[in-house]
Amino acid sequence: MLILVTGGAGYIGSHAVRALQRAGHRPLVLDNLVYGHRQIAEQVLQVPLVVAQVGDRALLDQLLSGAHPACGGEPVAAVLHFAAYAYVGESVSDPLKYYRNNLGDTLTLVEALVAEGQRRGTAPPPLVFSSTCATYGIPDSGRIPIGESCPQRPINPYGRSKWMVEQLLADAGAAYGLPSVIFRYFNAAGADPAGDLGEHHEPETHLIPLALDAIAGRIPHLQIFGSDYPTPDGTCIRDYIHVSDLAEAHGLGLEKLLAEGGQHVFNLGNGTGYSVQQVVEAAERLTGRPVPVQRAPRRPGDPPVLVAAAESARRHLGWQPRYPDLATILSHAWAWHQRDPLA
Ligand code: UFG
Repeated sequence: MLILVTGGAGYIGSHAVRALQRAGHRPLVLDNLVYGHRQIAEQVLQVPLVVAQVGDRALLDQLLSGAHPACGGEPVAAVLHFAAYAYVGESVSDPLKYYRNNLGDTLTLVEALVAEGQRRGTAPPPLVFSSTCATYGIPDSGRIPIGESCPQRPINPYGRSKWMVEQLLADAGAAYGLPSVIFRYFNAAGADPAGDLGEHHEPETHLIPLALDAIAGRIPHLQIFGSDYPTPDGTCIRDYIHVSDLAEAHGLGLEKLLAEGGQHVFNLGNGTGYSVQQVVEAAERLTGRPVPVQRAPRRPGDPPVLVAAAESARRHLGWQPRYPDLATILSHAWAWHQRDPLA
């Protein structure tokens, strides 16, 4: 089936495109290339790429109905919506950029899906939406691991923009029958085991690529943000989930929506937490090289512990992460890091 993938030239979106291709679907990427990579879409994935903003309503109408030349005459069966800005710090200093892009453009996309359903005389085509554990904010310590019913109290505009879309999707589901799956990712990490897809952000802010940059001498040292958290070694604990496992979950979510519709919310994590210190040590074990580190103050807005209760996706989607252990996630990230054609 023809599946529209917004943000399909970015980190998680590109891995989802590959999963769709492997499942026999025909992905079509819509990406503004602000953070996505043309080379990944065109050369590595060899997927049709439309370079535009998601909020272009006339373009969306053309794509969804199959009138756009990139569709090959086929209407879009479903949308995987990855396109978003995701820098927490920037969202604090420039919140309107986040509300415009993450919320405003998604509203336009949802309007286009509802209109396309009306045009077809069916339910709107289903949507799989990338949300985040950042919608939980700082959960009470008694709520860890974090289940889907944990209160959502995002603490920055990025998290709020994603949370608002979740509300919008719930309302659009109730009113117009828009089928949706909301995935709340924990910490996406790793790279496709084939070694030709991976994480490349500019600027990079994430722990694992920065630790590998420090090992490779691309940056002088890794800063460890905060050593006085209420955790066993004083550093923050996160639930790292392999990006290919995330991609696989999207395929399963899509099949569920195509088969039965409905509205669903799933955490995507492994349910195991690793501290920043443990990640650093695992990277050192893997590469046999030291990570030069510098202790730094806490980064504003970092919750001490974020670990998923992730049974629901396993139970309801049959999702079974293939690469749950940190050493494997790091080894795939390192393989990509060493050959990263985008560096
Ligand atoms: N960290 C460092 N040094 C760095 C980078 C990160 O010590 O140079 C620490 C962070 O303080 C945090 C952990 O490593 O404790 C992981 O940080 P990342 O930046 O890799 O990821 P986050 O936990 O901040 O990201 C998660 C989700 C995002 C979401 C964000 C919102 O993956 O989707 O939370 O808080 F945007």
